[in-house]
Amino acid sequence: MSKETSVKVFEEVDNLSSFFGTIIMDKIRKKNDNEYLSIALSGGSTPKLIFRFLTENFKEKINWSRILVFWGDERCVPPDDKESNYKMACDYLLNHVGIPPDNIFRVFGESNPNDEAKRYSQIVKSKLPSNNGIPVFDIVLLGLGDDGHTASIFPDNLSLFNTEKFFEVASHPQTNQNRITACGTIINFAKTIVFIATGTAKAEVISTILNKQGNWKKYPASYVSPKNGDLIWLLDKNAASVYIDTSE
Ligand code: 6PG
Repeated sequence: MSKETSVKVFEEVDNLSSFFGTIIMDKIRKKNDNEYLSIALSGGSTPKLIFRFLTENFKEKINWSRILVFWGDERCVPPDDKESNYKMACDYLLNHVGIPPDNIFRVFGESNPNDEAKRYSQIVKSKLPSNNGIPVFDIVLLGLGDDGHTASIFPDNLSLFNTEKFFEVASHPQTNQNRITACGTIINFAKTIVFIATGTAKAEVISTILNKQGNWKKYPASYVSPKNGDLIWLLDKNAASVYIDTSE
């Protein structure tokens, strides 16, 4: 399996979303008829635009019944809370494209965080193929905070990239909101990691990370490095604006 990093820049978010849709289509097409595509979704606001675009333009193009849906991180809130990544995914995508409910593996944000991190780790382990005992996702979708965090691994907790845990409890450094997050092992064992980022607010941190400049080592997203798979950055032109200028 190749280990390749690519950066793709799009004029508009719709073009980025369409490209992500074709990634999913192509990966399902390469699966055997009895196989599913496993994907760990990210949360936050960026995926909303992408999920809505997939609902509007890929509902018929993707065989959604062939997809197993997980989350790379979740806020420790009930599933009907406006903060819930599960709720956001349902509102913008999952309620509209006909994924069998049994194929959606929600993080129980309402549960005790430590218990849920253990439970979810076991669920993921039971549902996915493993490589050296590490569950392997087909796709891990990641967002990027302007502080360089990804999933819910924040700069004050880089140790989550060096733990044997699959999922762990984290907390947001500003709000102290508890999170359940995939750890570095799960992220980096994925076959394909797709970073999505849009907007100028992330342009500096993206350039720092991609060019390995300045304080790049303090950013969790810098430690996303697939062991065997591919890493694809999908950026809109604003998010890529500094990187493009500095990488020429
Ligand atoms: C979350 C996400 C988180 C997100 C980044 C970017 O639960 O919030 O998983 O890692 O991807 O914070 O968020 P935006 O897309 O809102 O900028």
